[in-house]
Amino acid sequence: MAAFLKLFLLYFVCATGLLTRRCFGGDPYVYYHFVYSYRTLSPLGTPQQVIVVNGQFPGPIIDVVTNNNVVVDVKNKLDENLLVNWNGIQMRDNPWQDGVQATNCAIPPKANFTYQFQVKDQIGSFFYHPSINFQRAAGGFGPFMIGNRSVIPLPFPKPDADIVLMIGDWYIRDHKALRTDLNAGKDLGMPDGVLINGKGPYQYNTSLVPDGIEYENIQVEPGKTYRFRVHHIGISTSLNFRIQNHVLNLVETEGYYTSQTNYSNFDIHVGQSYSFLVTMDQNASNDYYIVASARFQNESQWERVIGVAILHYSNSKGKAAGPLPDPPNDFYDKTWSMNQARSVRQNGSASGARPNPQGSFHYGNINVTQTYIFQSLPPTTIKGKPGATLNGISFVNPKTPIMLADWKDVKGDYKLDFPSKPLTGHSRLDTSVIDGTFKGFAEIVFQNNDTVMQTFHVDGFSFYVVGMDYGVWSEDRRGSYNKWDAIYRCTIQVYPGAWTAVFLYLDNPGTWNIRTENLDRWYLGQETYIKLVNDEDKGSQFAAPHNVRFCGALADLQRESGAPSINGNMKLIVIMLIVVFFFSS
Ligand SMILES: *[C@@H]1O[C@H](CO)[C@@H](O)[C@H](O)[C@H]1NC(C)=O
Ligand SMILES: *[C@@H]1O[C@H](CO)[C@@H](O)[C@H](O)[C@H]1NC(C)=O
Ligand SMILES: *[C@@H]1O[C@H](CO)[C@@H](O)[C@H](O)[C@H]1NC(C)=O
Ligand SMILES: *[C@@H]1O[C@H](CO)[C@@H](O)[C@H](O)[C@H]1NC(C)=O
Ligand SMILES: *[C@@H]1O[C@H](CO)[C@@H](O)[C@H](O)[C@H]1NC(C)=O
Ligand SMILES: *[C@@H]1O[C@H](CO)[C@@H](O)[C@H](O)[C@H]1NC(C)=O
Ligand SMILES: *[C@@H]1O[C@H](CO)[C@@H](O)[C@H](O)[C@H]1NC(C)=O
Ligand SMILES: *[C@@H]1O[C@H](CO)[C@@H](O)[C@H](O)[C@H]1NC(C)=O
Ligand SMILES: *[C@@H]1O[C@H](CO)[C@@H](O)[C@H](O)[C@H]1NC(C)=O
Repeated sequence: MAAFLKLFLLYFVCATGLLTRRCFGGDPYVYYHFVYSYRTLSPLGTPQQVIVVNGQFPGPIIDVVTNNNVVVDVKNKLDENLLVNWNGIQMRDNPWQDGVQATNCAIPPKANFTYQFQVKDQIGSFFYHPSINFQRAAGGFGPFMIGNRSVIPLPFPKPDADIVLMIGDWYIRDHKALRTDLNAGKDLGMPDGVLINGKGPYQYNTSLVPDGIEYENIQVEPGKTYRFRVHHIGISTSLNFRIQNHVLNLVETEGYYTSQTNYSNFDIHVGQSYSFLVTMDQNASNDYYIVASARFQNESQWERVIGVAILHYSNSKGKAAGPLPDPPNDFYDKTWSMNQARSVRQNGSASGARPNPQGSFHYGNINVTQTYIFQSLPPTTIKGKPGATLNGISFVNPKTPIMLADWKDVKGDYKLDFPSKPLTGHSRLDTSVIDGTFKGFAEIVFQNNDTVMQTFHVDGFSFYVVGMDYGVWSEDRRGSYNKWDAIYRCTIQVYPGAWTAVFLYLDNPGTWNIRTENLDRWYLGQETYIKLVNDEDKGSQFAAPHNVRFCGALADLQRESGAPSINGNMKLIVIMLIVVFFFSS
């Protein structure tokens, strides 16, 4: 009886957040305070409104170790709602912290919300970003780095230091102006530039780059090896990344160690993260260019859409000069880039977040339990409004986030009828969600029938990238899958007119966002959610955190003070009970 009571109390304590430490075990806590606000900056020489975090653009780094408990208090000083998504953080058994619109109520202006989650069994390079209102186009993003535990060595010599680069295409129009264009059914047009760590290009050519632009200057020591963690946090332009005269040794992709491979340049698509080891093995006769240039575009028209930073050796004898290193010359060769993507493999013998080798999960031997084909089409007009679709459906966010609606029994909030194949016929607007099978082993085929390169991301999981090719996917393509050393990651490109197939083990209960990372398409509804219920343990799934925000049909339950949901006297009684029980054991 006492044991039962104790369990009940522990559950109660966890659910109300009175003593969170007991619920998460002994792993260390790391605390951050993030204040989101506007600031006027001129990354491309023209003053514009940028979203900063604690005054910084990009935002501060989250730097933690596998299994740490991360607590981030986010204060919204913007003039509109905010939600922060932790891109690539799996929120294992903690789906309430994901920070996307059908999962969490937005944080209104002046309010704050504390995210709390454990980076359970995760390692590697990720980022955070605002997930609504097209805000990422104005900033608000930053790196999220999870380092190795002391008991697990890296699969390469320890780098001398980390260097984070956040790269992305950028507009001088602010996010509200961009939103207005999208709402009017307009294409955003060519970006005004590419930023590297929030800064514009180095003036490598006086006719292309105006005077007075602040550029990123990376200081290095000769002979040392650095781990460059490169994140594409832009809008929709694929970028080719390269460092003049230096080799990029790819070692990690979104939390998984790759079979280490040298590249002279590498294609990085919206929402993707990579780690490269770069050794400072040049003679420092001058500084070197770090370049992120628009990909798959007519270079003579897009020559201003380029990010240029400087790699400065401490013994450098002069400024970088001359032309930038060449991008791949493959305008007429559609397969070069895809072949590079296919060459990214996992290192099966390396240990990742856990001591056992990454390759010990033999995904290739597991039978697929369901197949989903997600077809993306170019934006269209649905009921007079612009929309982008996945299987013919442009997602409409529910008024009440899905898990909240389930928890409080709000009816008619969403439908569990998302089709597992493209629908023929008219596109529609709908709050249509996938009814997933918990612990199923899914095959997802992303079929890009749009005219632009896309990247797709699944919250809550990583997936094995087993194949990609041009044309329309068919079942006989399974014979070509990589069932041995496919990379495990969470954001994958899908070439226009091509498909990418991934395997996904659906073992994380919750409601998880599946989206394109291309901001414009995402904004226009190209996303859905997969709902996974663990019938044996509904408790953990439906117990909302004590500070959960309410909105939609449940808006009346929200108290803006942020006070705990039980009153002071009750809290005192509960604490006394806890003390009695824990000390009596
Ligand atoms: C990570 O591994 C390296 C060796 O590969 C080690 O030097 C380092 O201390 C480890 N990190 C932590 C936080 O223990
Ligand atoms: C600068 O760019 C312009 C336009 O592409 C080109 O014509 C010119 O040759 C470049 N100047 C130098 C010094 O490379
Ligand atoms: C990769 O490049 C580095 C130079 O940065 C070189 O030392 C190494 O041998 C190369 N590895 C392979 C497999 O080519
Ligand atoms: C260093 O670079 C300069 C300029 O590129 C070159 O002339 C010189 O030969 C290089 N020296 C060595 C030792 O590589
Ligand atoms: C790129 O654009 C220029 C100028 O508009 C045009 O002359 C050229 O033919 C285009 N190149 C390709 C490969 O389409
Ligand atoms: C794979 O990882 C092991 C560490 O387990 C490392 O020694 C080896 O160099 C790695 N191989 C490649 C090709 O990355
Ligand atoms: C997969 O399916 C095949 C054929 O239906 C069956 O023989 C095999 O045992 C299954 N494998 C697993 C691991 O369930
Ligand atoms: C889209 O699909 C149609 C029909 O399958 C095909 O004819 C067309 O080439 C595809 N377009 C792209 C860009 O994939
Ligand atoms: C967030 O709100 C809580 C409760 O109102 C308060 O204690 C905390 O200091 C706030 N944090 C920030 C960063 O404003």
